[in-house]
Amino acid sequence: MKIDHHNVAWSAATPASERDVRAAFTQLLKREPESAEIVQNWLGRKWSLGDLARYVRGSAEFADRSAKALMPLLLKTDRYQAIYGLPHLSLKDARDCVDRCVAVTEAFERLFGLTNLAHLKVADIGCSLGYPSLYLADRGADVTGYDFRKENVDFCRGAAEILDIPAKFNLAVFDWPLARQLVADGTNVVLLWSVLHHVIEQLGFVETKKIVAYLLASGVTLVCELAHANEDVTHKWRETLPANELDLFDSKSVQVSNIGNFVALSGISQRNMYVAQMAGVTLSPLASERQPERSGGAAPVRIGPLTFSGISHVGVPFKQYASTEDLFVKFFRYGAANRFDVLRRMEAEFFANKLLASTGLLPKLQSVSRAPNFVGLAFDKVKGAQGLIEWSRKADMVQRRSMAIKIAEGYATIAKQSLYWNDCRDHNILVGKDGRVIFIDFELASPLESEDNARRARWLLWHLCTNAKWDSSYVSHLPTSELPDLPKFAPNDLRATWVRIERLIPTGAA
Ligand SMILES: C[S@@+](CC[C@H](N)C(=O)[O-])C[C@H]1O[C@@H](n2cnc3c(N)ncnc32)[C@H](O)[C@@H]1O
Repeated sequence: MKIDHHNVAWSAATPASERDVRAAFTQLLKREPESAEIVQNWLGRKWSLGDLARYVRGSAEFADRSAKALMPLLLKTDRYQAIYGLPHLSLKDARDCVDRCVAVTEAFERLFGLTNLAHLKVADIGCSLGYPSLYLADRGADVTGYDFRKENVDFCRGAAEILDIPAKFNLAVFDWPLARQLVADGTNVVLLWSVLHHVIEQLGFVETKKIVAYLLASGVTLVCELAHANEDVTHKWRETLPANELDLFDSKSVQVSNIGNFVALSGISQRNMYVAQMAGVTLSPLASERQPERSGGAAPVRIGPLTFSGISHVGVPFKQYASTEDLFVKFFRYGAANRFDVLRRMEAEFFANKLLASTGLLPKLQSVSRAPNFVGLAFDKVKGAQGLIEWSRKADMVQRRSMAIKIAEGYATIAKQSLYWNDCRDHNILVGKDGRVIFIDFELASPLESEDNARRARWLLWHLCTNAKWDSSYVSHLPTSELPDLPKFAPNDLRATWVRIERLIPTGAA
């Protein structure tokens, strides 16, 4: 049995009204402002803000109020989809969407390691009544739904408002201007669910294929549910479809995964859902300081899946990653965030790597890939390297302390270039197979200090040298207390290690 998690009305202590719950929750947040994400032990369980939103939607008062507000809008639509979060408004034979939403989020985790939907900037084309848009936005993605039917857009906006979900909806036809806008605004995922057969009927197969190719070449991940020519329907669009639905993608330049098969048209059809991405980039090798991009020599290279951040807890839809056999490519997508900030990050990464190249502490920057809407920086892949924390789990104290000194030496070398790393985090330090320390992620590097680098480094190294408890929340907030003093009876090798580290990473102001 499939459980529709977001529509579950909590059976425990259903609230008298949504307003009561909100009021109670507001009080709690006032008392515990630090616990904005998780408020513990209210009604005997742990709550996240998402839980709370789903909980209040279970109240009778909310059901009543939402029906009153939305029914007039809903009755103007074809009621094709189920209504996200408001099952009492859905028609019985409406197209349920949770199966496709779950399939997509699971596929993104499987294919791209994505666990935080905040890294997605999504366009849902032919959004109908907004189910996938609202589902993804309710879980942190930045989503805009587009439909060429005004009634649909009006309903979606009303639903988003009453559900208090920050999905946006716009009236638009899927054609070149919209495709160009999506590329320019940094959209990194486009949902094309059961809509391309209409587009093919409107624009023709060749033109539709060109728009699809343009989005893919711009580094956009497409999620396409495709109607096919064998469907048992009399609709005119059937005649406009190719014999093989996969002809929509150019097999040489696109990588495609089939992520499921779904019932459409109330059981008449079964349609496949595909995730498609560009399969290669053109890399221009770097030559010298004077001539950063060697003319000629640009070559197409096949890449693996275009992944999303697996680390950042805040959304970074402007960053994606891909690998070739020997290179690790980091993409900076303009438009997905403040353009100036994205450019600054890309340039900081570029120049910090050039500046520190001779130290051997960073993976060598080999080439760049330039497109109108993104830049990819391709670094040597450090094969077999492990993250510092992973490495330290298998290391003994002697190895940990000698690694701490190596890291401190590397840190001091970087500081000598009058450069602040501004991102000293354990996940940005790798240990090579040969025990070499590798520093990565210099997009925040700057001659200006934007966080207390030395304090961060000392906390991290203290943890490494002592195996003191390390909390994953330290990535964003270091403990407010100072580092503990060395215990009086600290073993000699710890004392000696720490004295060296204090010399390499000064404690006081320079
Ligand atoms: C068959 S429904 C699919 C709805 C939804 N994507 C799903 O799979 O549940 C097609 C939707 O696409 C919209 N649509 C069709 N052609 C379109 C176009 N060229 N541009 C924008 N929307 C379009 C229709 O209004 C309708 O809401």
